[in-house]
Amino acid sequence: MQKPIYILGIESSCDDTSASVVCDAKVLSNVIANQEVHAKYGGVVPELASRAHQQNIVPVVQQALKQANISKEQISAIAFTNGPGLMGSLLVGTSFSKSLAIGLKIPLIDVNHMQAHILAHFIDRENTKIPPFPFICLTISGGHTQIVKVTNYFEMEILGETIDDAVGEAFDKSAKILGLPYPGGPLIDKYAQLGNPKAYKFTKPKVGELDFSFSGLKTGILYFIEKQQRINPNFIEENLNDICASIQFTIVEILMDKLKKAVKKTGIKHIAIAGGVSANSEIRKKLQSAEKHFGWTAYIPKFEYTTDNAAMIAITGYLKYLNNDYADMSVATKARLKVTE
Ligand code: KG4
Ligand code: ZN
Repeated sequence: MQKPIYILGIESSCDDTSASVVCDAKVLSNVIANQEVHAKYGGVVPELASRAHQQNIVPVVQQALKQANISKEQISAIAFTNGPGLMGSLLVGTSFSKSLAIGLKIPLIDVNHMQAHILAHFIDRENTKIPPFPFICLTISGGHTQIVKVTNYFEMEILGETIDDAVGEAFDKSAKILGLPYPGGPLIDKYAQLGNPKAYKFTKPKVGELDFSFSGLKTGILYFIEKQQRINPNFIEENLNDICASIQFTIVEILMDKLKKAVKKTGIKHIAIAGGVSANSEIRKKLQSAEKHFGWTAYIPKFEYTTDNAAMIAITGYLKYLNNDYADMSVATKARLKVTE
């Protein structure tokens, strides 16, 4: 029998320190330490994020190995996020991974965080609905909003992307206007469940075919709230559910409109979503119902693989390991990295 392949994945691109062990595409552990420290600042503070990664990385890795019930000597290779992300945060994971790989005398694999969000769809393929190539992936996170044509594991093409804010920022900045803590996306989702999505109407941006723009929407929401507060200072408190439902409805409509255009342009009807915002209940619902309404096949990741996690890094590392695609020890961290690189 062939020896099992164990990949240790390490993710530290933003504000979550995560480590995961996969064995032949099955996740044995996926430990995530969230950093509460940013909540009161209304966004991630890079300096604080790097320091928290330094504190978290050793215990998180130890816990991932323990949960996977393997010793570090059994690891076949170490996969780590080498970009895109916050430079200080990335450097913590990169330096740690290089040192451990040297110490254990095993290969090192560099992983593109954006590719990993998409390739999370290939985790545990025996029990999951796996997208066939080619498929379209709407990658929606705190840093990115892209429509990607995925021709093969590592052959991707950006069909459209945001020209300003990412959709996650649109959620988080709207939440900040409403006085909610960071990250506000999940909170808008929560309050929206109880609200009327048609209560308020926000203007949708007009941008190129498959591109997105969210900065105008954020400003529109800000002006709307300021105007309403001049009439009723308690406007937010009294109407929070309806405001959140209306914001979420508008954002998801923008995303779905672009997906329809992408399907029309490419003829591809296998549609996946990935990234933190793919945890949003409304986009999940709308995409699911597109199966019935438009004849698409929808691929919706499990919740634990939507926001930043190391299981997606480990599965991407596993796919690269099968190709003998290893990194050199001198590999450099890249704060900016396209999904196609
Ligand atoms: O992928 P991710 O964890 O980190 C980046 O690579 O950016 O995405 C984080 C983003 C944040 O903007 C957060 O507010 C958003 O995902 N998010 C949500 C939900 N859960 C997370 N946005 C809307 N609804 C949610 N349920
Ligand atoms: Zn991410």
